[in-house]
Parts: sequence; C-alpha cells; structure tokens
Amino acid sequence: MAPKTSYFCQSCGHESLRWAGQCSGCGEWNTLVEAPKPDAKPAGKGPGRSRAGAAATPVALRDVSAPAVERLVTGINELDRVLGGGLVPGSIVLLGGSPGIGKSTLTGMALGNLVAVGRRTLYVSGEESAAQVRMRAARLGDAALGVPAIAETSLETVLATLESERPDACVIDSIQTLNAEGMTGAPGSVGQVREAANAILEVAKRTDCAVILVGHVTKEGAVAGPRVLEHLVDCVLLFEGERERSFRTLRALKNRFGATSEVGVFEMKGGGLVEVEDPSARFVGEASGAPGSCVLCSMEGTRPLLVEVQALVAPTEIVPPRRIANGVDRNRLAMILAVLARHGGPGLASADVFVNVAGGVRVDEPGADLAVALAVVSAHRGEPLADPDGKPLACFGEVGLTGELRTVGHADRRLGEALKFGLGPILGPPEAERMNGLAPQATLRKALGAAFARAPRRAAA
Ligand code: TYD
Ligand code: MG
Repeated sequence: MAPKTSYFCQSCGHESLRWAGQCSGCGEWNTLVEAPKPDAKPAGKGPGRSRAGAAATPVALRDVSAPAVERLVTGINELDRVLGGGLVPGSIVLLGGSPGIGKSTLTGMALGNLVAVGRRTLYVSGEESAAQVRMRAARLGDAALGVPAIAETSLETVLATLESERPDACVIDSIQTLNAEGMTGAPGSVGQVREAANAILEVAKRTDCAVILVGHVTKEGAVAGPRVLEHLVDCVLLFEGERERSFRTLRALKNRFGATSEVGVFEMKGGGLVEVEDPSARFVGEASGAPGSCVLCSMEGTRPLLVEVQALVAPTEIVPPRRIANGVDRNRLAMILAVLARHGGPGLASADVFVNVAGGVRVDEPGADLAVALAVVSAHRGEPLADPDGKPLACFGEVGLTGELRTVGHADRRLGEALKFGLGPILGPPEAERMNGLAPQATLRKALGAAFARAPRRAAA
C-alpha cells in the first residue's frame, strides 16, 4: 500500500518520502514535516493555459453581513476579560502553559460554569483517565462534576464525538496527545499536531463550537511547539507562573476578537484557581523594604500592578560574573548594569547580580528598568530605599543608553495605583504635564540621588 503521507520541507516545499534531518531541496536543517499527500492534481491543464475559475464579486466591507455573536461567558472574570468578553462560538483558543501550571484546572472550571448555565460542553482528556479527571473535578466543586468527559486520543473518534454531541464549548486536553490515523509521526510531532488542529478547526467552524486546545509549552517557550498552530487559531493564551508559587498570570499573545493587552491574575488554592482581583494589595503588603527591595508601578495590560523587585549583589571571583534574572529580561538587566556603571551607579564587574520579581510575576516592559536599577544599587550599598517608617519606594521608567529616564505608557494609571496604596512620592521620568505624586527625574543619576536622599544612611554591609 502506498503511504498516505509524505514529508514536506517547511521552507522550500520540497517533498521527500522519508524523513531526513536536512532537506535535500534547499539544504535547511530540521524543516521536514509529515503531512498528508495532496490529492492527485486534475490532468489536462497544459502549461501556458491560464487557470480558469469563476470570478468572485468583492463586497464593500460595510455591506458584509456580520451578525452579532453572543459570547459564551465562562463566569471566570479574569478569563473572560483576557478573551475579550468570553468565548466566541466557532472559534479556536490555544491555551499554552508548562506542565502543572493549572491548564486542566482552568478549563475544567470554565466548562463547569458553562454547564451550570445550561450550555452543552465536552471535555476531551488525552493525558488523564476519566477517573483522574473526575478526581480533579471533585476538588473544583459540583459544577465541574457535571461536565461530560471522554478520555480519548484518537483524532477520528474526537471528531465523530464533536459531530454527534454538538457541544457549545469543548476542551481538548491536550492537542499534543491526539493521534491522527494514517500519519506515522508520533503524537505531538509537528505533522500530527497540525493535522489534528486543522481537522478540529474545520468541525468547530461548521458546528459553531468554541474549542479550547490545551497545548504544552516547549523549552523555548513556543506554544505547542510548532508556530504553525499559532497562525491557525483565533486566540493564543499563555498561562504562566512558577509551579511552586501560587500566583498565575493569564495573558493573550494573539486575539482576533479582543485586545492582547489584558492580563488575568489567579492564585492556585486547594479548591482550584481563585481570581485575584486586586493583586497590587498582595504584592505591596509583602514588600520588605529591606536593602535591595523596590516597588515597581508596572502595567499588566491595561491594568496597573504594583510588584516588588528584589536584587542581591554578591562579590564573586567567577569570570564572567553571574547575572540571574527572574521575572525580568536578562538582556535588559545586562543593559541596566552597563548604564549604571557609566552613569552614576557602581561598577559591578566583580559581583554576581541576582534580580527577582517577587510573587513569580513576569514584567515584560521597559518601564521596569528604573526599579531594577534602584534595587541593584540599594543591594550593592546595603542601604534600604524605604523611608524610616518602612514605607517602600515606588518608581517606574525606562532607562536609556545615555543614562536618561524615558517616558513609558500609562504614567497616570501607574501613579494612581501607587498613591492608592499610600506610596509616594513616586520616582519616574519627566512628564509633559505636572502630575500629582510624581517626583520627576531627568536622568538615572538624578533618580539615584533622589532615591537615597530619602533614606537614612546606613553603614554598607
Ligand atoms: P493542572 O490543572 O493539572 O495543571 P496542568 O493541566 O497545567 O498540567 O493542575 C496543576 C497543579 O495544581 C497540581 O499539581 C495540583 C494543583 N491543584 C491545586 O493546588 N488545587 C486544585 O484545586 C487543583 C485542581 C489542582
Ligand atoms: Mg493537564
């Protein structure tokens, strides 16, 4: 029997019968991916003939009918907000995250809530037996126990079940476990994942079912391994956090039906994930005010969030010294250390530098620069940034390569949040207009001066 699949190069399209590390067409490495063979092309169209086909009539976009769709509200506010108001029928959401972060818990809770309001749902588990899924659901409460579930890894069976059950919402946990008939690659390989996603997409669009595909994150941080999947789906959500810590953040990397700037914060508890509506209070309450600690007025999407940035500077003989960053970008840290060395800060060439954002939060924005710089200098000097009453110093702002402080977005919201928690004055970049509570600093050097002028001097540790 002739094989139904072939291997195709992702970069030049070359077809090969066997997998090989290098494409014999273009010489690229690791680009061959298994895919079904396309059907034989219809004969009779010689070269030179133009391709015939019925012409389509373009319609002005304002005349295209777009019925307002009612979203499926999952009842988990943070999830609904990140999705842009709930699940869109007929859409595909890819939910990525590392193992143990709570993907199955989140999707189980969402389906449970939908069942409770009378929606039809389906939970497909390829990783756990139905009994294991039930054990989790039992922790999540009564609603989650009402979700119809199958433990299945055959793509064909899943598709047939979708056709016969016609759920409003379905969770596939996970896309990497599905196995398409006729493909020889192992489940989870690029070819398998893409084939499964394509087939599910087709059924979802046709039956108006909202599908959440759970995907694992690879070591490189890509969702579900192949980038192809990210192009295919309507929405890519990333569930992040450290497994040992209880805080989790949910953010959208791509969303065809909403903004990608929204972030949801959850906490993992004994009875499932709990929404954290006011994360700043938690983070600020825990801020120590010790040397090396600084509060950052950060933005999580459109929401301000106060987090504690901590630094530790330790002398070392190791060359090059270590630069460890948790929750902030490592390259960004290297840049800040270089700017500090040139513009008013200490040179740390013979010291290990550790920076950590407390609570397992990730801040991915240049607005964190100043907080990192101040925390590092405070740690180096052994002087706290907090005032004598222990009130922590709050700041925000981007550090430029020439040592200047640069404006970042949403200065007003950042300030507002810090003032709400009784912090202030807040160090930040100069703004066009005067802002209540802001102590504007033009340069990093000036910001360092202002930060340490507040605190009583202590002998360096
Ligand atoms: P899980 O949703 O299975 O993670 P994923 O599907 O992303 O791999 O949950 C992961 C962890 O969460 C698990 O180690 C146990 C913990 N957990 C709780 O702490 N409380 C709970 O109510 C549940 C359901 C799980
Ligand atoms: Mg799971």
